Amino acid sequence: MRHLITLHELKRGEIDRIFAIAEDLKSKYRQGLREPLLPGRVLALLFEKPSLRTRVSFETAMSHLGGTSLFLGEDVGWGSRESIADFARVLSEYVDAIVVRAHEHAKLLELAAYSSCPVINGLTDQAHPCQALADLFTLRERLGSLRGQTLAFVGDGNNVARSLAVGCAKLGMHFVLSCPHAYRLDDDFLDRLRHDVPDMRYSYLPDPRAAVAQAAAVYTDVWASMGQEAQAAERRAAFAAYQVNSELLEHAPANTYFMHCLPAHRGEEVTDEVIDGPRSIVVEQAANRLHVQKGILAWLLGSRQ
Ligand code: CP
Ligand code: NVA
Repeated sequence: MRHLITLHELKRGEIDRIFAIAEDLKSKYRQGLREPLLPGRVLALLFEKPSLRTRVSFETAMSHLGGTSLFLGEDVGWGSRESIADFARVLSEYVDAIVVRAHEHAKLLELAAYSSCPVINGLTDQAHPCQALADLFTLRERLGSLRGQTLAFVGDGNNVARSLAVGCAKLGMHFVLSCPHAYRLDDDFLDRLRHDVPDMRYSYLPDPRAAVAQAAAVYTDVWASMGQEAQAAERRAAFAAYQVNSELLEHAPANTYFMHCLPAHRGEEVTDEVIDGPRSIVVEQAANRLHVQKGILAWLLGSRQ
C-alpha cells in the first residue's frame, strides 16, 4: 500500500503514469464521459484548515469516478478527542483513502503510520504535492515538454515552493527560487533532493529580475501561508521587492506564463494586472486539480496502476 505524502516518494515514471490517467480522464470528461473507475469507494477528507480547490476537486473527482467522499472538519478531534493512532486505525477501517490537510506535517506522518489505507497529503506546512502535480500537468499541456524548461518561483520558500522544487527536479526542469535570504529553501531539504535526483537543477537568485530572465513560467504564492497570519506585516515588509507585477515580467521572456496556486492576496504577491492578464494560467491550474486528483486516486487505489 502506498501513501502520497510528498513528491520525494514518487518516481518519475509514476508521475508520468498519474499524468497519463489524468489526461485520458480529462479528455473523456470533455466528451461527456465519466468513467466509474472507483465504484463504491469512499474517500475521507480530514481538514484542519480552510479549502476550496483541494476539497471540492477531490470530492467531485470521487463522484465522477463512481465513489463517494465525506468531509471531516476539526470537530472530529484527531489528536485531541483521541490519539492520532487510534483515530487512524479506526477511520482507515471505514474508508478506502484519506486526504489530510494539517497544520503540522508530523501529524500527517503519524496518521499515515497507523492508517491501513492510503493517505494523501492535501497540504501541510511542509508540502502540497497534489498542487504541484496539477501545476506541472498544466505547464506540460502548455509547453508540450517540461524537460530543460525553467520555472521561476518568486516568493516564500513555502509548502508549494518545496513541492514544486521536487516535482521540477523529478521532471527535469530547472527550479529557480527568488526571495529574501531568510525565506529560502533550507539546506536539509535541498540535500535530500540532491541525493534523490543528483542531476537536478536548482538556483537561488535573490534578484527577482535575474530569476525570471529565462523562465517559461513565473510562479508566486502568498507571503504568509495559513497559520502564519501573525507574521503577515513582517512578511509584507520583507517581500515588498518580490511582487510579481508588469514591471517584473518585462524582464521575463515575452511568452512566459504566470502561475499561482490560489487563493491570491491581490496587491501583495501579485497585481490584478498580472493575475488577470494574458499570461495568467491560474484558472487552468485550478481546473486541472480535478483531473489530476482523478489520476492520483485511480493510481493510488489500484484500478489503473
Ligand atoms: N490551492 C489550493 O490548495 O487551494 P485551497 O486552499 O482552496 O484548497
Ligand atoms: N502556501 C499556501 C498555499 C495555499 C493553497 C498556504 O499554505 O496557505
